[in-house]
Amino acid sequence: MNNLFNLKNKKILISGASGGIGRTTAKILSSIGADCVLIGRDEKRLEETLRGMHGGNHQVFAQDITEYDALKELVKQAVADGKPFDGMVHCAGIETVLPLKILKPEHFEKSFSINVIAGFELAKHVIKKKHFNENGGSLLFLSSVMGSVGSPVKAAYCSSKGALIGGMKALALELAPKKIRVNTVSPAMVVTGMSKALLAKVTDSEKEAILKAHPLGLGEPEDVAWVCAFLLSDASRWITGTDLKVDGGYTAQ
Ligand SMILES: NC(=O)c1ccc[n+]([C@@H]2O[C@H](COP(=O)([O-])OP(=O)(O)OC[C@H]3O[C@@H](n4cnc5c(N)ncnc54)[C@H](OP(=O)(O)O)[C@@H]3O)[C@@H](O)[C@H]2O)c1
Repeated sequence: MNNLFNLKNKKILISGASGGIGRTTAKILSSIGADCVLIGRDEKRLEETLRGMHGGNHQVFAQDITEYDALKELVKQAVADGKPFDGMVHCAGIETVLPLKILKPEHFEKSFSINVIAGFELAKHVIKKKHFNENGGSLLFLSSVMGSVGSPVKAAYCSSKGALIGGMKALALELAPKKIRVNTVSPAMVVTGMSKALLAKVTDSEKEAILKAHPLGLGEPEDVAWVCAFLLSDASRWITGTDLKVDGGYTAQ
């Protein structure tokens, strides 16, 4: 019986690869054989990610993914070596923490632009004929438990993450005939720059409540990255249209 849990000869695009979950995902995917295409705005931090990766057949693009028009050319360049994509994981994201009375349309627009629209735009270019493996593959979007359950002062973030889950399900059905699987991964709080910024703003008792809400404690980027590796590999070949919670028990309560 073949071991399907590997990414040998698979080419995977990773947005948000310059830090946090995206960086660790890039390292872990490369450790099981993937050739990775890394995207983020900060070139220096992308190069840092690259230095921590296995193998040598990776590419780096410093690009703001909300500049939608540039994404088509980026993907074209990434496949100019003749090797099409087998998958992508949209890790880039921002968290907006503001009460409704302060939220402006711009906050929603920025949140949706990075978290949702750029992810679907990247997917659109990646799955094009000649850009994608004709035998199919796997698309992943980092949503959040906040896409399914609420949290005060996070309407912009929660609504964008919920939109990702809805869009993922539509794409799963649309792309199934091409054997392209589409799923979301929804973590609870993982220790990265994003969550540290949030924890720095809350009181000690709020921090205690956050910790208590995670029966297995807070997550590490590796906890999410290995799940992404599984969903990108053929070991998950019958999973599509699923929102997989990786939350240390957060939503079991
Ligand atoms: N950490 C958590 O607790 C947690 C929980 C649930 C879900 N998530 C989700 O998991 C994903 C990764 O989170 P994280 O904690 O790893 O975040 P992070 O450490 O803040 O990293 C975010 C990444 O997104 C990139 N990015 C942001 N805006 C961008 C833009 N306009 N263009 C290109 N890249 C952009 C950043 O790169 P540059 O700065 O170089 O552009 C960075 O690499 C996010 O979608 C987040 O919502 C995180």
